[in-house]
Amino acid sequence: MFWPSHRDTSTTIIGERASLPVALAPIGIGGLQWGNGEILACRAAHAAGIPYTLGTLSICSIEDVAGAVEKPFWFQLYVMKDRGFARSLIERATAARCSALVLTVDLQVLGQRHADIKNGLSVPPSLKIRNLINMAAKPGWVYRVLTGRRWTFGNLAGHVKGEAGVKALAEWIGHQFDETLNWKDVEWIRDTWPGKLIIKGILDVEDAKRAAKTGAAAIVVSNHGGRQLDGAVSSVSMLARIAEAVGSVLEVLFDGGIRSGQDVMRALALGAKGCLIGRAYVYGLGAGGQAGVATAIEIIRKELDVSMALTGVRNVHEIDRRVLADGFGF
Ligand SMILES: Cc1cc2nc3c(=O)[nH]c(=O)nc-3n(C[C@H](O)[C@H](O)[C@H](O)COP(=O)(O)O)c2cc1C
Repeated sequence: MFWPSHRDTSTTIIGERASLPVALAPIGIGGLQWGNGEILACRAAHAAGIPYTLGTLSICSIEDVAGAVEKPFWFQLYVMKDRGFARSLIERATAARCSALVLTVDLQVLGQRHADIKNGLSVPPSLKIRNLINMAAKPGWVYRVLTGRRWTFGNLAGHVKGEAGVKALAEWIGHQFDETLNWKDVEWIRDTWPGKLIIKGILDVEDAKRAAKTGAAAIVVSNHGGRQLDGAVSSVSMLARIAEAVGSVLEVLFDGGIRSGQDVMRALALGAKGCLIGRAYVYGLGAGGQAGVATAIEIIRKELDVSMALTGVRNVHEIDRRVLADGFGF
């Protein structure tokens, strides 16, 4: 038995130094969790030494975030039917010196999200009586969102000609997801984007092998946090076999259900090079802005460190199947 007195949680993700094998996942409308939420989350990630991913459907625009942080961040792209718009987003991400493009491939149509429909989740929040009562009970949230620099989809502002209102933008987006998205489009993006490409939303071995042929630096094994298809396989149940199939060709990242440092350790043991966290940081953002995100990351760091100490590994590269109990069925 060996108990390391010092542990090193740092690693590299697509060649970038990271203090933890963790990055912040792309989250739409983060600026509705807390005014300027994307800028605050990016600052917290950078202060903690981990990558941040800005989503296409963010409230703060690429330029807003680039102008407010010191280091490069990743940009997540949804390919819309309007390919000119996709190209312009890639050009803007290039100009903003984003260090990776995260191409999401599992949202060619929007999943049926019953809770969103029931709650009237839209941008701006739909003004049902229930929502108004809810907002009245949260004046701090209303103040922070209203004093944020934007209330609408920042990356789309000015794009939909003659229709600047948020309702028009939301409708435009609704019609723009491209059901015909295919591997040729991925190759087009590969050729258009000059930097590192990460393909997010891979859930089976054949797609992983196909993605590996595109020259992408990484894939994210993901089912979009279970938000797209009810009954889809869990991402963790597919991780090991995908990592085995393509882990020697590109980096296999993972997301879905990471809530603790132990979850990060489990994903690494199953072959992931790193994890993306979604809800785990969004809850922190909604609860406490930048400090809330910093706390969420710190909790995960501490839990990973303690888990490493108690499983006898000195650095994240030593994490393998031995840390999992026998019979962990993946
Ligand atoms: C509120 C919310 C918004 C999201 N928006 C996006 C998005 O705009 N683009 C994207 O690629 N993924 C999006 N995702 C999916 C996350 O990037 C990630 O795959 C997922 O949250 C991982 O699961 P976890 O929340 O259990 O960590 C979103 C997830 C949540 C919870």
